[in-house]
Amino acid sequence: MKDVNVGICGLGTVGGGTFNVLTRNAAIIAGRAGCNIRITRVASRRGRDDLALGDIPFTTDIYDVVNDPAIDVVVELIGGYDAAKELVLAAIGNGKHVVTANKALIAVHGNEIFEAAAKAGVVVAYEAGVAGGIPVIKAVREGLAANRIDTIAGIINGTGNYILTEMRAGREFSEVLKEAQALGYAEADPTFDVEGIDAAHKLTILAASGFGVPLQFEKAYTEGISGITPYDIAHAELLGYRVKHLGIARRREEGIELRVQPTLVPQSHLIAQVDGVLNAVLVDGDAVGQTMYYGPGAGDEATASSVIADIVDVARIVAGGGGQTVPYLGFAPEALEDLPVLPMEDVQSAYYLRIQAFDHPGVLAKVAAILSEHGINIESIMQKESEFKDGRIPVIILTHTVQERQMNLAIEEMEALADIDGQVVRIRAENFN
Ligand code: HSE
Repeated sequence: MKDVNVGICGLGTVGGGTFNVLTRNAAIIAGRAGCNIRITRVASRRGRDDLALGDIPFTTDIYDVVNDPAIDVVVELIGGYDAAKELVLAAIGNGKHVVTANKALIAVHGNEIFEAAAKAGVVVAYEAGVAGGIPVIKAVREGLAANRIDTIAGIINGTGNYILTEMRAGREFSEVLKEAQALGYAEADPTFDVEGIDAAHKLTILAASGFGVPLQFEKAYTEGISGITPYDIAHAELLGYRVKHLGIARRREEGIELRVQPTLVPQSHLIAQVDGVLNAVLVDGDAVGQTMYYGPGAGDEATASSVIADIVDVARIVAGGGGQTVPYLGFAPEALEDLPVLPMEDVQSAYYLRIQAFDHPGVLAKVAAILSEHGINIESIMQKESEFKDGRIPVIILTHTVQERQMNLAIEEMEALADIDGQVVRIRAENFN
């Protein structure tokens, strides 16, 4: 069997997991790859005494890996934007294939990186960047290649899902976030998790590779979960819904919807059953129908599973003397469609609304009239007499699907009513029928 030489940059959580699994399962991985995958150099800012590096040269300079002429594949596991971009472009410049787990890098700089890689004739693989150990990029780019994909929706941040799951038991957001950080689920900056930025990185990549459009992270809409209260979670449950932090990408004739947001989903849908730190991605293809990919979205060896699957793909190419077979975004570059990301006002969604109404005669009639004037159809309405306080009473409304522009106008008019106190709480809802 031929040897394929791999250099690992970054020995954090995922780097350590990759080293351990590559070492432990070396024989089975070689059998699958048809070549020996040799870790020939490892670079990291800090060493790790817990890893059995043995004779493998260790360096604190990642460029020792990038500039090592013997190395065929550079595995980028340092994370972040700028240093990772420089590293990857330097590796490509040296004619090396790249495997990365860095979703931020691909979502933000992927178009430029893929162009450079295409010119150099090297592979850049990024399965581990999206939903950790779930092989969803392989599913979307290869397994579903026959399909026109119009909807991709997922729970693609484990920290956010853990927080919302715990809040169902009535716990407060800030308390659960601290716990998620202590458990090691959160990003270095946890606002990336709770404000939806990490999920938007992953959604951008999923949409591009599923729909065949360029990466457009800067146009993704992100809404976090820090404003979600146990009260709304409990009332969504009473209506038969669960609140999940979803990335939703939808392809429409005029453009794509690209949004990360708290979302009500029916309790009966499989995606509502995905709890704790787990991830799931729903992909709707015109031929296959709905498929869902479920599993650990983070963690050392779970993410290493995807990193190594990419290394195996690349090693087969290196050992076989061939070139890239699967295009970077699943479509030949000339087949990518320049579909714009639609502004949020053009998004179509159902809504959960919570209104604090003063207990005056005719309040509900006024609210219903405003909704009707904007073509908004009410699916259900709940008025909680038992929670009547200070002359105010909560009214909860679930609507059918409507354009966000209409809902914005309706909310503006409702908030201007003297019979309504404060702001209307709005959470989007999806049925995924
Ligand atoms: N912070 C991320 C999450 C890690 O919670 O999902 C995996 O990308």
